[in-house]
Order: sequence, then C-alpha cells, then structure tokens
Amino acid sequence: MFAARPMAKVNLTLEVGPLGDDGYHTLTSIFLRIGLADLIALKLTAGGAADRVVVSGLPGAPIEENIVLRALAALRERAGLPLPPVEIELEKRVPVAAGLGGGSSDAAAALKLAQACWGVGVAASDEMTLAARLGSDVPFFVADAEVALVEGRGEAVRPLRSVGGNAGLLLATAPTTLSTRAVFARHDALSEQGSRPEASLSEDLAIALESGLIGQELCGWAGRLRDANDLWPAAAELAPLLPALRDELEKRTGRPWLLSGSGPTLFALYPSAPDAAEAGRVLVDRRPASLDGALIHAVDLIGPDPIWRHP
Ligand code: C5P
Repeated sequence: MFAARPMAKVNLTLEVGPLGDDGYHTLTSIFLRIGLADLIALKLTAGGAADRVVVSGLPGAPIEENIVLRALAALRERAGLPLPPVEIELEKRVPVAAGLGGGSSDAAAALKLAQACWGVGVAASDEMTLAARLGSDVPFFVADAEVALVEGRGEAVRPLRSVGGNAGLLLATAPTTLSTRAVFARHDALSEQGSRPEASLSEDLAIALESGLIGQELCGWAGRLRDANDLWPAAAELAPLLPALRDELEKRTGRPWLLSGSGPTLFALYPSAPDAAEAGRVLVDRRPASLDGALIHAVDLIGPDPIWRHP
C-alpha cells in the first residue's frame, strides 16, 4: 500500500492574460499550499482488469471520470509498458470543485504513488508535461513547492521561499457550484482584451516572498491581494451569493477576503492558525444566515488536517 496526503492550495493572486488558440489563458499566479489534505492510498488490485477508484468523504468528486484515473492512464501510456491495474482509495477532505486544487493535488499524488508502486520512474520534465496535460493546477503540486509563482497556462512553476513562521487562513467555501471553464468564459465576455495594466502584483509579492516574508507580514498584503484575482467579477456574476457572502465576512471579521482560483472558496489571512480558528468560532457563533451551507476551515500552512472546521 502506498499512501499520501495531497494538500490543497489557494491563489494569493490570479492575473489572467490573453486567451490562446488552445482555449487556455496565460496566467500569472502566486500559489500557496495550505494545510488541508485529502487521503489517497494506492495498491495493486487482486483481481480485475482495470484501474479502480473508491471515493469517500465530502461529496461531488467524480468516480468514472476521476482525475486520478486519468493520471494513471497518462503515466501508463508514457511508460509504454503493460503495467498492472491498481485500486485507489480516495477520501475527500478538501471541498470539491472549490478553487482549492483538491483534484489536481490528488492527480499529482497519484502520479508519484503509481510510479513507486509500479517501480517505474519518469524524468521530472516528463512528469511536468504529463501534469500540465491533466490540468492547469497539477504542475504546481508535482513541483512539491510550498509557495510558487505559476505562469503560462500553469506549467511554468517557479518555487519561492516559504512563508516564514507559518500563517493562518480561514476558508469559507460557499454552497454553490462554479465551473472553471464557465468562469473563464464569463471573464472573457466581461473584459476587453488587452485592457489589463502591465504592473504585476504577483511579481511584487514574489519579490517580497524571496526576501523572507513571514506570515504576519503576509497579512499586511491582504488589502492589495483582495482585488488581485481577475476572475472575481466573473465568479461574482455567475454566483451572486458570493459578493453578499464576501461583504458579510468582511463586515464580521474586519479583514479583506480573497477568492481562490475560480471559486467558490473565499479566504482571509491571519498571523496564525489559532487566530484563524478563533475568528471562525466567533463567526459561526453568531450564525449569520449567509453562512448557511458553507464549509469553513481554519488551516495553517503545514496541516495535513485543519486546525478547526465547521460543520
Ligand atoms: O486545466 P483545467 O482543466 O483546470 O481547466 C479548466 C478550464 O479552465 C479550461 O477548459 C479552460 O476553459 C479554463 N482555463 C483557461 N486558462 C487556464 C486554465 C484554465 O482558460 N490557464
């Protein structure tokens, strides 16, 4: 049995460039790995002819079309060998299709675990190519960086110096579904191509991280980062409960709340995970109706489990 705890991410920035001929946009994004993880275990199957995945935990993850099965198929094709079928047990603890990269992280873990199980190894560059084909967020997780500047359509990952002294995040995943593809399409409809200013907050933050940013200092960036996700207007339009939820969260916590990926997870930065957990407790104690159905997690950057969650 080969097992791992694939961790999630948030995007501290997400600058969306032009749409390419391949149907993908050029991105510039700071990815931050967070201490919230699924459980994945992989073993050779005793019988059966095909790979199989058994999914438990939070709802919403596909079974037949699960990205971990696509990862196995891609690896088998790349290896060019008749590798035996495997069974994967996947316990979803990261909210599914939430902008947290849970499925992408599972796929990256599956690539690594299957190589160990089958006793094959693909070159690091081939692994990144496979990862990029599986999904735009997968290369970040294959690179195994705590924080990185991610460019291209996701395949160019530049690891950055880790945030010093840990940090806390309070995550609120709104009870709504948002398709990444639909959010990008809406973004295109809303924006005039080429209207985005050249100055890049991602690059400013990358420089600050490289000079040794600590968690508390990162909180000081939150006001600027709040509007550094270019997908916000599109996500807010497709899921009208998001702007109302963000207003409420900001009013109640006195902090800026950021959108991760294409949503619908919002998050705030805290100097420590206990601070984030305390803020979460205060928030749910007052039972605001706008939080009905939301999943709330207080996490640090280490995990693999959250410090606190609700419900
Ligand atoms: O790569 P992934 O499967 O995560 O992408 C989902 C969808 O998001 C794509 O089909 C595309 O519409 C959009 N996307 C994009 N540009 C990117 C990444 C994703 O337009 N760089």
